[in-house]
Amino acid sequence: MWKCLVFILVQICAASLVGNLWQIFQRIPRTRQVDPCSDFYQFACEAGANDLDVDSYSENTTLGFLEIAKQRVAESLSKSLSCNSSTWCNDEESFNNARKFYSVCLDTQPESTLPELKTIIKSFVNLPIVNESWDEKDFKWVREVSVLRKYGVQAIIHEFVARDWKNVSALKTYFVAPKFDFVHKEDLLGTSRNSGELVSFYKRYIKLIFKKLGLSIQKAGEVSEDIVAFETEIARIVPDESEVTPPEPITFYTLKNRFPQMDWLTYFINSVKTSAILWSPLIVINEEYYRRLVNLISRTQSRVIAQYLLFKFMFKFRAAVEDAHSPEYCLEDVIKKMKTNVGKVFVNNYYSPETKQSVSEIVADVKEAFAEILNESVWLDQSTKDQALEKLHAVRTIIGYSDDLFTDNREASIRLTNNYYKNCVELARREAEIEHMQLEKGLHPWIPSSVDPNAFYNVTANTIFIPAGLLIPPVYDKTYPKYRNYGVLGAIIGHVLTHGFDFEGKDYDSKGSEQTWWTTKSLIAYYSHLECVLPQYNNISASESRESVGDFGGLSENVADSGGIQVAFRAYMNWKRRNQQELLPAGTITSEKLFFMNFAKLWCTPQSNSSLSNKYHVFNSLASVPSFTDAFGCEPGSKMNPVRRCKLW
Ligand SMILES: *[C@@H]1O[C@H](CO)[C@@H](O)[C@H](O)[C@H]1NC(C)=O
Ligand SMILES: *[C@@H]1O[C@H](CO)[C@@H](O)[C@H](O)[C@H]1NC(C)=O
Ligand SMILES: *[C@@H]1O[C@H](CO)[C@@H](O)[C@H](O)[C@H]1NC(C)=O
Ligand SMILES: *[C@@H]1O[C@H](CO)[C@@H](O)[C@H](O)[C@H]1NC(C)=O
Ligand SMILES: *[C@@H]1O[C@H](CO)[C@@H](O)[C@H](O)[C@H]1NC(C)=O
Ligand SMILES: *[C@@H]1O[C@H](CO)[C@@H](O)[C@H](O)[C@H]1NC(C)=O
Ligand SMILES: *[C@@H]1O[C@H](CO)[C@@H](O)[C@H](O)[C@H]1NC(C)=O
Ligand SMILES: *[C@@H]1O[C@H](CO)[C@@H](O)[C@H](O)[C@H]1NC(C)=O
Ligand SMILES: [Zn+2]
Repeated sequence: MWKCLVFILVQICAASLVGNLWQIFQRIPRTRQVDPCSDFYQFACEAGANDLDVDSYSENTTLGFLEIAKQRVAESLSKSLSCNSSTWCNDEESFNNARKFYSVCLDTQPESTLPELKTIIKSFVNLPIVNESWDEKDFKWVREVSVLRKYGVQAIIHEFVARDWKNVSALKTYFVAPKFDFVHKEDLLGTSRNSGELVSFYKRYIKLIFKKLGLSIQKAGEVSEDIVAFETEIARIVPDESEVTPPEPITFYTLKNRFPQMDWLTYFINSVKTSAILWSPLIVINEEYYRRLVNLISRTQSRVIAQYLLFKFMFKFRAAVEDAHSPEYCLEDVIKKMKTNVGKVFVNNYYSPETKQSVSEIVADVKEAFAEILNESVWLDQSTKDQALEKLHAVRTIIGYSDDLFTDNREASIRLTNNYYKNCVELARREAEIEHMQLEKGLHPWIPSSVDPNAFYNVTANTIFIPAGLLIPPVYDKTYPKYRNYGVLGAIIGHVLTHGFDFEGKDYDSKGSEQTWWTTKSLIAYYSHLECVLPQYNNISASESRESVGDFGGLSENVADSGGIQVAFRAYMNWKRRNQQELLPAGTITSEKLFFMNFAKLWCTPQSNSSLSNKYHVFNSLASVPSFTDAFGCEPGSKMNPVRRCKLW
């Protein structure tokens, strides 16, 4: 069935899909001459690109391959999700929940949000406003907090189950200081820029919610002042974030002894369905917070705490009260909330297993090219080199979708209703339940979203994931010429692989445990190369962009960009050596040029929106690559061929 649908999508539906896309495409003048050596992004994305026949989908457009793929995923999914008994429908039971959720979302008027949520919350907690006869005397804050936790709402206490940071096969329950959703701690404490404006906006937002819950304007205003004052007190007792090494795990009984004033038993009984929590190792990261909390609670009015909890619930289930339930909104919502079901729908309709085979050949070639580059590195010593190669060879690859996608029924077994809000609350409850049940049943497989036109490297799993949503035209098709598939998908694979060796990735070993496998000598050489990349990177951004990129996160992207394109180019050259020359479009264009043109087309965005980060993906990738400047004959000292070049890999 799916094979046929893939065929239909590409061959027949292409006309209508592309037809829709054209409406938003901007026509661009074809006469402009741009020098590839001074701004390759503009050269590839605007002028010149059409003459190279890079791709018929993106002809006459400033949209790049990624953006087109994103729109195609959205169009394909909304089609499959709104199918009814027509031929397009794939009627497998497990997919119906995603369809149901989507159609109920479309049929829901956002005006009903708060009254509906009020009815729902009334059925499980006892809070003021939702309960007219609420009485302060009966209020037990820990009880209400723990019941809300069962629905995934984290308020005042922040607790979660996750893998042990030291031992990836062990699960632990963590307690940390609470997170702030809308404004940051610094805003509440008045130490950030714009904190005044942000906080006053926040207050107005809270006021609006309480007004919609039925309070008078004046009363809603008072409640919002109280809530922000209370949250500010919470922010005050949250310790400053610093590099804390997680403390040793403790038992439930130690926890009780250490914080005797807190009613932990009530917390666990209500929030967690399993008694396994009682012997699960607990890690309390911010003990100081929990110590100060007891005092804060005792000097705060119960009514204020209760109203704060009510707000946290409303916030989780409806952050933007006035959002209309447009098809775009509902699609985004179902993708976010029913990740596995939506993944199944997409994979069944638009993904062919043959793709896996052809993509894994590219992955193998790119890995091989990376191994050659590591092996040739002159600044890594032999021992570190061996470890790096071991890590590279151990990288697992998930292509299209995770094997667990079709065995996982966490969303299929949920009983959805015709009430959108009930569905959202039920999905959140299930998610929290699965999280806690891991303590009894072991780690629940991590299933990444298959519909994202993106690619990922997971450092703790040493795994790269290339979702089915990326493996569609114009990003990838197995019939495309190799210069294109290596220039686009090959470079993406190279990028994510390089993340295993970037500033953070280098601290994890082949199994994904945090562990140093570098000799001191190689580590010093690593930092000196990184230091060389850093000023080059800052220079570019400081002169042309206001984006703040001085941190190592941005640097890691830069390292991955430049490493990714080099390994992809090498993989392509290796492919060429093994195979006969491929057919090129008429003209004098070389396959090397086409390789880089296609790479740049991945990142193009409409000029009106001119995204600097996309532009710098192209610039940062190519300006450090000799094979690029050779291909286009860029003089040393030109913008794309800077005199001082640094590279890590
Ligand atoms: C692209 O532009 C060329 C020349 O302006 C035109 O002939 C062609 O039809 C356009 N292609 C599409 C798909 O609009
Ligand atoms: C089936 O879906 C189409 C398009 O979404 C819609 O126009 C039509 O009314 C639907 N038919 C039924 C029986 O729901
Ligand atoms: C409302 O509050 C009163 C007083 O605390 C309590 O007796 C009653 O059970 C509550 N109603 C609901 C529906 O929770
Ligand atoms: C890691 O955790 C697993 C499961 O709890 C356990 O069997 C194993 O002994 C632990 N390994 C180490 C090194 O602590
Ligand atoms: C690594 O490089 C050496 C010499 O440069 C070469 O002899 C060896 O075959 C290479 N090993 C791999 C795995 O490429
Ligand atoms: C990486 O993989 C592990 C286990 O495979 C999972 O627990 C974790 O959530 C993943 N990380 C991210 C950021 O998704
Ligand atoms: C930074 O930019 C300035 C002026 O554009 C240039 O003179 C300098 O060489 C650049 N530095 C680096 C490290 O590229
Ligand atoms: C420009 O960017 C904004 C925000 O990122 C987006 O909502 C909008 O659709 C973009 N416009 C175009 C023409 O892509
Ligand atoms: Zn990246």
